[in-house]
Amino acid sequence: MGPDRRTYDPRQYLFDPALLKNLDWGSVKGYLSPPITNEGPGESWLVVRPLQIEDFDKGYLQILTQLTAVGNVSRSDFERQYWRMQQSGGYYITVIEDTRNRKIIGAATLVTEFKFIHNCALRARLEDVVVNNTYRGKQLGKLIVLTVSLLSKKLGCYKMSLDCRDPLIPFYKSIGYKLEPGNANSMIVRFEETPRIENPS
Ligand SMILES: CC(C)(COP(=O)(O)OP(=O)(O)OC[C@H]1O[C@@H](n2cnc3c(N)ncnc32)[C@H](O)[C@@H]1OP(=O)(O)O)[C@@H](O)C(=O)NCCC(=O)NCCS
Repeated sequence: MGPDRRTYDPRQYLFDPALLKNLDWGSVKGYLSPPITNEGPGESWLVVRPLQIEDFDKGYLQILTQLTAVGNVSRSDFERQYWRMQQSGGYYITVIEDTRNRKIIGAATLVTEFKFIHNCALRARLEDVVVNNTYRGKQLGKLIVLTVSLLSKKLGCYKMSLDCRDPLIPFYKSIGYKLEPGNANSMIVRFEETPRIENPS
C-alpha cells in the first residue's frame, strides 16, 4: 500500500467530494437542455454528492429497489459494505439528494479498475443508475450519469462501459454512449447458490 493521500475526512463521504468540482461539462454541451451540471443542478434543493453513511436513513437502499432486488440489508450490513468499498478504493457512488425532505432521489455508481494493458490504464464501469420514479423525466438521469462519466474522465479512465436493457439504449445514446459494431455483446454466467467468503484477500 502506498501512503494515504486522502485530503478529506473519509468518515464523511465515500470519496473525496472535491473530485466532483470543475468537471468538464463543456465537453458534453448539448446533451442537457436547459444545461444543468452537478454543481448547478437547476434547483437550490438538489445536491449532487458522494454517498454518505447517513444515506441509509435517506432512502438510498429504497431507491435501489426501483432498479433491482436489494434484499434484507440491515444498517450494520450497509455500514460494513460501505467501509469495505471505501477501504478498497475505486468506488464512486454518487447520489442526488432532495434537501427539502432529506431523501436520495437519484444515484449512479462509477467503479474503476486498474489494468496492466494500455500502459497500466484505468478503466471505468457504470453501475446501478436509478432516479426515483416521481422525479423522472426532468433530466436527473442524464445529470447523474454524465456526472459520473465526467468524473471517470477526470480520474484518467480511458473508457467507461455499461450494461443495460434494450429499451434504455436510446437514453444512453442521447448522452454520448455508443454501441460499438462487433463489440456490443454482454454475456453473463450467474452463480446463484455460491456461498460468500466474508473476508476475501
Ligand atoms: C433510466 C432512468 C435512470 C432515467 O431517469 P430520468 O430522470 O427519467 O431520465 P431523464 O429525465 O434524464 O430522461 C432522459 C431520456 O431518457 C428517456 N428514458 C428514460 N427512462 C427510460 C426508459 N425506462 N425507457 C426508455 N426511455 C427512457 C426519457 O424518455 C428521456 O428522453 P428525452 O430526453 O428524449 O425526453 C430512470 O428511468 C430509472 O431510474 N429507471 C429504473 C432503473 C433503471 O432502469 N436504471 C437503468 C439501469 S441500466
